Amino acid sequence: MTVPHLLDLARALLRKNDAGPFTKPGPNQYPHQWNWDSALIALGLSHFDLPRALTEIRSLLSGQWKDGMLPHVVYHSDPSDYFPSPAFWQIENNPNAPGISTSGITQPPLLTTIIRRMRTRHSIPQFIGEVYPSLLKWHRWLHTSRDADKSGLACIIHPWESGTDDSPRWLEVMASIRPQDVPDFRRGDTLHVPAAERPHQADYERFIYLIDVFRREKYDPTALLARSPFLVQDVLFNSILHRADEDLRVLAEELGQPTDEIDDWMNNLRAHFDRQFWDNADGLYHDYDRRGSASISVNTAATFLPLFGGIASREQAKRLVEEHLQNPLEYAPNQKIRHWLTTTSQSEPTWEARRYWRGPVWIILNWLVIEGLRRYDYNDLAGAIQRDSLELLARSGFREYYDPRDGSGCGSTDFSWSAALAFEFKEGA
Ligand code: GLC
Repeated sequence: MTVPHLLDLARALLRKNDAGPFTKPGPNQYPHQWNWDSALIALGLSHFDLPRALTEIRSLLSGQWKDGMLPHVVYHSDPSDYFPSPAFWQIENNPNAPGISTSGITQPPLLTTIIRRMRTRHSIPQFIGEVYPSLLKWHRWLHTSRDADKSGLACIIHPWESGTDDSPRWLEVMASIRPQDVPDFRRGDTLHVPAAERPHQADYERFIYLIDVFRREKYDPTALLARSPFLVQDVLFNSILHRADEDLRVLAEELGQPTDEIDDWMNNLRAHFDRQFWDNADGLYHDYDRRGSASISVNTAATFLPLFGGIASREQAKRLVEEHLQNPLEYAPNQKIRHWLTTTSQSEPTWEARRYWRGPVWIILNWLVIEGLRRYDYNDLAGAIQRDSLELLARSGFREYYDPRDGSGCGSTDFSWSAALAFEFKEGA
């Protein structure tokens, strides 16, 4: 399939999933607005319908809480079979909740970086002035309400906040959680996708148990830092945050706004990042379990995100690429794995080819890693992953994720960000 034809299909898919003020990440599986999905969808839309792209972002920001929290889901639309339903979150018990239904947790803060990218391609000064205060407020919330140790590193309190829900990074922490009195619930996710491609039931019980803890605490940030059974400093989340701070700073300068506060966040995070995450013996970044005060020694593609964040040194980047990314025992294609980039190293015993974040290729991760590699001048490798990503999209359609062995599609069909990112991959294809 030619690239122009693929882009025609991508455009048609984004139009098809358009639900008015927002775009569904997947037509059946994800019928509401998701935070980082909608940032990427806006980037895709900006290639052919800039006003609609700006609407996507304004709709997401309409769900922002008064204290700055930008939720992971905004429910603009009618009831659906998606679980948790809006009512399940009980956000009305928090005085900062907005007038619209949302979840009570956040997601990786990719939005500012996406807006800056759009800004480099289009003249949108008025829009930047309009959204800047909301972005600043979200970053400030992450650096204060989610900073458990004054390190500039944000904590996540739920695996869904990592965007990589059932990643093996969370297995040990999740196993240490003993769910009690879990409210009755009926999973909606396995109605549309085979259970073998979705999280295990034990993970799901804990996902729901954690929400129940949060709603009992009325989403008070101080109480959640003190008592959430899941409290983690995530390499992927903090790399994206650092990059977003850098991009926020550029927007601030353009607007003639002060940058001291942003500089403090960035300097603080940089000063603590390696101490908390870098494992010099393994040459890998590992997440940190704050609740259990322990490093999480699991090898997943999250380890490459400091390249996207621009926070790795040249030497660290070299080790990540040469010892891990290009290693056929871990990430590089080999006899068994034909495609870039398995989300979890094949060397992990929990690796599963088709189960969600346990092994499949995710287009978003490919894009984040490609961007990171380019930042460190690994252009040939970035090009190889990009070509492979385009091939997957052309051969298996815009799926949620792909089996890295044969490239067959898994999870939701007609998945919006896979279509949106096709527009980014076309550059240099
Ligand atoms: C899943 C993914 C998450 C994504 C959401 C909607 O929960 O893990 O990253 O935002 O689906 O697509």
